[in-house]
This record gives sequence, C-alpha cells and structure tokens, in this order.
Amino acid sequence: MDRIKIIGGERLNGAIPISGAKNAALPLMIASLLTEDRLTLKNVPNLADVNLLARILRNHGVDLAVDGKRSGGAPHLGETFHLTARDISDTTAPYELVSRMRASFWVLGPLLARMGQAKVSLPGGCAIGTRPVDLHLAALRDLGAEIEIESGYVIARAPKGLVGGHIIFPKVSVGATHNALLAAALAKGETMIENAAREPEVGDVASCLVKMGAEIEGIGTSTLRIQGKSRLEGAVHTVLPDRIETGTFAFAVAATGGDVVLEGTRRDLLKTAFETLAQTGASVTDTDNGVRIARNGNGLEPVDVETQPFPGFPTDLQAQLMALMTRAHGTSVIRETIFENRFMHVQELARLGADIKLHGDTATIKGVKSLTGAPVMATDLRASVSLVIAGLMAEGETMINRVYHLDRGFERLEEKLSRCGARIERLTAG
Ligand code: EPZ
Repeated sequence: MDRIKIIGGERLNGAIPISGAKNAALPLMIASLLTEDRLTLKNVPNLADVNLLARILRNHGVDLAVDGKRSGGAPHLGETFHLTARDISDTTAPYELVSRMRASFWVLGPLLARMGQAKVSLPGGCAIGTRPVDLHLAALRDLGAEIEIESGYVIARAPKGLVGGHIIFPKVSVGATHNALLAAALAKGETMIENAAREPEVGDVASCLVKMGAEIEGIGTSTLRIQGKSRLEGAVHTVLPDRIETGTFAFAVAATGGDVVLEGTRRDLLKTAFETLAQTGASVTDTDNGVRIARNGNGLEPVDVETQPFPGFPTDLQAQLMALMTRAHGTSVIRETIFENRFMHVQELARLGADIKLHGDTATIKGVKSLTGAPVMATDLRASVSLVIAGLMAEGETMINRVYHLDRGFERLEEKLSRCGARIERLTAG
C-alpha cells in the first residue's frame, strides 16, 4: 500500500489549481442515466471514486468515452466525460460495487424513474457514522415508488412510472436531495421538495438537469419545484470547482504560513469556512482567477465552530480545521453535528502531539507550541487530509499510511503541494 512522507516546516507559496468537485461530478455522472442522449461533462476530476462510479455506470449499460486533459489548457481544468445511456441493460447495482462508495446508491432514483424498477444494494456502514437511507426511500415513496428491502437490497418498482409529489425532508440530506431531484426530473407532473440541501453541488446538478430539459425553480434554495418531463435530452455541463479541496488547501496555507492563489475556484462556494479562516488571522482575497490565501508569520487565533449543512461550516472541512487549530494560540471548540463518528483523526493528531479532548459531539483543542512528526494512519478521506495538514506543520517526518483514502477525493495532492514548496512524497508499495 502506498504511503505519503512529509517533512514538515516549509511555507507554501505559489499557485494551486483546484479540480472539479468530486461531490458534484458523481451525481452529474449518475444524471446520464436519465436520458438516451449524450451527456458531456467537462472538468471531471481524475479520482478513485469517479473511476469506481464509471465502472458502476458501465455495468448499467452506460457508454463512457473520456477526453483526457488538454495540453496547454488551464491547469485546473479536468477531463471531459461523454456518457450515453442509450439502453439500460441492467437495473441492478450489486453489493460488491455499492458497498465501496455510498454515492453509488444515488442510481436508485434515476433508474427507477427511467425504467420503472431498480434493485440497489444498501450502501452499508461507513466509518464516519451509521448513514441510513430512510430519507431517500421516503422521498421516492412520495413519488409513488413501491419499495421493499430484501437480503440487503432495496427493490423499488413504479410500473406506471413515478408521479410528481410533495417531499418534506425532516432533516437536510445531500444524497436524498440528489436522489429525489434526479427522480423527479422524469416523474409525471410537479414535485415540490422542501428542506432540500442547498449545497452548491445540488445546485450544479439542478442546473445540469435544466440544460437536459427539466424545469426547476428555486435552485440554490431549500424549496425546489420540479416539472418532470417524459423525456430528457443530452447536454454539455462543466462541473463546478471543488469547495472542499479549496478549503483544504486554504487551511494548509494558513497552517504553514505563506501565500498561495487557489486557481479556478470561487469564494462564494465556501463563505462560512473562509470567514472562519479569516478569524484565525489568515487573509482571504479574490483574484482574477481564484482566491488568494496568505498568512504572515503571526500565530493563529482559536475559533469556535459548529458544522452545519450549507451555507454553514461544512463537515467535510471539520478535520482540516481541527488540524489547523492544534497550533492556535489558545483553545478552540469544534462541534460536529452532521455525522456522529467523524472524529477518527483525533487520536492520529494526538500522535503528533496535539492536545484534543472529546466529549460526545464536541472536541476541545488546546493549541500547542509545536507538533512532532510520527507515523499515522489515514482513516477516511477528510480525516486523512487533516493528517497531511498536521504533517506540514510538524517538525520532522510524518509518514501517512493507508493513503488510498486520499486518492478517493484529492487529485494529484502531493504534486499540488510540492509545487508550492512542501516536502511531500508518495512512497509506492513495491
Ligand atoms: C454527502 O454525503 C457527501 N457525499 C459527504 O461527503 C458529506 O459529508 C455529506 O453529504 C454532508 O455534507 C457526497 O456528496 C458524495 P447526507 P451524504 O445524506 O449525502 C443523515 C466526502 O468526504 N441521513 O447529507 O451521504 C446522515 O446520517 C463525503 O466527500 C439520514 O438520517 O450525506 C447524516 O447524519 C463524506 N437518513 C445527515 O443525514 C438518510 O436517509 C447528512 O447526511 C440520509 C442521511
């Protein structure tokens, strides 16, 4: 298994191109199931999760052609995917594939809407919490689906097609909103979704569905009104920039000091997290082609933060913020309200000398004068990258094991950081 070695203490200076958003690319690829025509997605990041979803979609009969990155193109722009689901050859998404990536469960709504039936494995547990699918199933039932669970599979039927309905989510769920939105685009009549997730990735999918011929009002708000169509068309859509990658590198720059332009990204995608970063003492400014993060030699101020659905502080940046706060001048408090078990980075950060106490959903982080490099273990995607940030701050060598988690969601991480002066390298297993 590959490992990543970091020698900490270097400042980051230069530019980092921000890739297309993983969490938008995945549901956008799934949207290809809704039409016989070709859906072209530009700026798709080259990530393990994207490649796995490509396999899952091919299994359903989707034809996928990839144009690689263009030489001479803007460095942040990714690959172009052409996806054509002329015939859906298989409406089953098997356990072997779905258990490896939760987002693949989102094929349920589109398959059901287009084919009148789908059999999709339950996604199974995940390291960051129990992550049930009750909200997905309730939403599809509101659109007329008959759903049973049998031997670990969700078996959904709508022999006469889905019909528009009124979905009121009791809790904000990104995935359930995607599933409902994708299904509603092909349902008969109007669907209203209340308490929809407002994450920019949901808005990106909705905008793509509009290009495909759906009528959607309220994009970017918590109430979506969708006029379903009997047929959707092909479209060309560019995946929006990855706000979590943006935030991660922004925190890394604040952590090490230095001055970096994050190219191809936007400040409005991450308003709260940038406000938090500014409170720590870093400066965040817009540039022509992105966002500039700078921190002079001064120390970091502590912050109190609670994770919330968008536009609040994202759970996907909680671990990275915690890494940053291990060196603050004082005590920070971070409360995780989205996932009950998203603190696995705490014991790994402690191996580097961090002083963190956990009480239920709240972590209290007392800033220390220095961290010291150590071997650590990556546990999930965002926890892993928090260890990279801590390693960049630590004195001496940090060796991160099990880095395949990082490859699920960060494109060319070592290259992007080392170009800005970090001493980071991947040690490939023999
Ligand atoms: C998406 O996961 C993201 N994944 C996650 O990013 C992100 O952490 C999460 O949204 C929250 O922002 C992708 O976009 C691929 P949820 P999702 O449904 O959709 C509960 C990463 O690192 N819930 O919004 O699975 C759930 O347990 C990943 O890139 C139910 O109770 O998250 C959680 O407490 C990790 N019942 C809360 O809702 C349901 O049916 C929010 O989860 C569904 C969810």
